[in-house]
Order: sequence, then C-alpha cells, then structure tokens
Amino acid sequence: MSLKKQIEEAKDFILSKTSSKPEIGIILGSGLGSLADELENSTTIPYPQIPNFAKSQAEGHANELVIGELSGKTVIAMKGRFHYYEGFSPLEVTFPVHVMKALGITKLIVTNACGAVNTEFSPGDLMLITDHINLTANNPFIGTNDDTMGPRFIDVSEVYSKRLRKIATEIGESLEISLRQGVYAWWTGPAYETPAEVRMIRVLGADAVGMSTVPEALVARYYGIETLGISCLTNMATGILDQPLNHEEVIEVAARAKTSFISLIKNILAEV
Ligand code: 6GU
Repeated sequence: MSLKKQIEEAKDFILSKTSSKPEIGIILGSGLGSLADELENSTTIPYPQIPNFAKSQAEGHANELVIGELSGKTVIAMKGRFHYYEGFSPLEVTFPVHVMKALGITKLIVTNACGAVNTEFSPGDLMLITDHINLTANNPFIGTNDDTMGPRFIDVSEVYSKRLRKIATEIGESLEISLRQGVYAWWTGPAYETPAEVRMIRVLGADAVGMSTVPEALVARYYGIETLGISCLTNMATGILDQPLNHEEVIEVAARAKTSFISLIKNILAEV
C-alpha cells in the first residue's frame, strides 16, 4: 500500500474516535509524558489500535495518542514515540508525523530527554534546539518520493523555527526558567556514547546528544510544519563526570524537570 494510503487509513481511524481538529502536535519524550494528562476533553488512542502504526516498547513511554485542549489550542500529543534503536525504520519512526499532518497540524513541538555535551550545562536544564547534526547516516526520506506530498530535496536551513524559538525564549525569561540553547546530535543508540565519542560530538559542534527528535523534525520540515524542539538534559554525556550512565536516572531527572517543562509548554501554546 502506498504511504499516502497508509496515512489516510490511520487518519480515518483517528477521525472515527474524535471530531477534534488538532492544530498543534506535541511529541513527548522519556519521562515527559505527563503533559498529556493536562489535556481537557481528551480522547486517548493506544498506538497498537491505529492502522499502520508500529508498536513501541521503550520504557518510560505510554504509547498512546491523546487529542484534546490545552491553553485554548486543540493539540494532538504523542505520549511515547518510536525509536530507531528499537529496530524501526526512520519511516516507521516518523509515520505519526505524517498522520498528524494529515489531521491538519501546522505546528509541532518535539521534545526529548538527552545528554549534555556542553560542559556549561547541568542535568535538569531545558534546552531549545537551535539546529541538529544527524550522526546516524540514515533519514526518513531515502527511497521514492511522492512529489504531491512534499519535495524530493528538502531545505534544512531552518528546521527549528526562529519565530517559535523567540517566543519560547521570551516565555522562558518571563517564567524564570533557565532555558539553554544548543545543537542536538542524533545518535542511533541504544548504546550511549563512549567518552571518546562524546569528545568527537563536542568537536563537531553539538551541545547535546540523544536518540530521537531529528527524524520527526525532518518530516515536519518536509511538510513546512513550523517546529520547536525542546530537550531536557537529564545527565552529562559519558566521560564528563566520573560516573556511569543509566536509563533510570534519565527518567528520574526528566520527571523532576517536568513542572517547569509543563508550564513552559502551556505558555508557549497560548502564544503560538
Ligand atoms: Cl548521554 N546519550 C544519548 N545518546 N541519549 C541520551 C543520553 C545520552 N542521555 C539521555 N539520553
């Protein structure tokens, strides 16, 4: 079945469950899913029910779509996402973005938990993504392109909207949330980076490293969806501190940052 048909099937299924017309999509990263609980008049749809969605098993993710109202906007939130390291193709990872576009979103907020490469940053900090570096040697567009959906060659000069970053920065200041800015590097995982790899990533120009976000942001760009990327720096990347990394710490620190994360997102939604 063509990609277009698969997207249509998923869209029709979702429209059979809700009459809401989402304008903004939100992808919630590890430990940040509780934002979806704030949605009012919400409809929740588990991913396994949705035609053509893959099935994710990552810990710290609920794996459901929640559609509802937040800060006066109709939003569609992904509580949990598909990761490349789970064995999903970049197309499977990003399929929900295609479906959100078909449902009518014009803006996307994509979030993640990631490691700080910039030694000035601290665990628990939030970071606006200014740009990214794709270190995976893969992307969601390899293969044939349907020119009626989007361009074969994609301009990536401004993947993360300057306009939305300005709004987010102003809101961060008014809420007194320390909001860092930096470049996010996409690492395949599931192994974290070695200390030497972290030094390499720093030399290449990244401030943070994680295992998600870039494929979804690229598909949003393909469609001309205005995108904002927000990272929760849950830990220093390997080798910066003299201690090993573990996933429990990632989930725990993200959960502690979630109060400022939730108020930041709510205020951004009201303004965009
Ligand atoms: Cl240090 N690296 C990667 N690739 N992903 C992470 C992380 C580090 N911390 C949280 N997620």
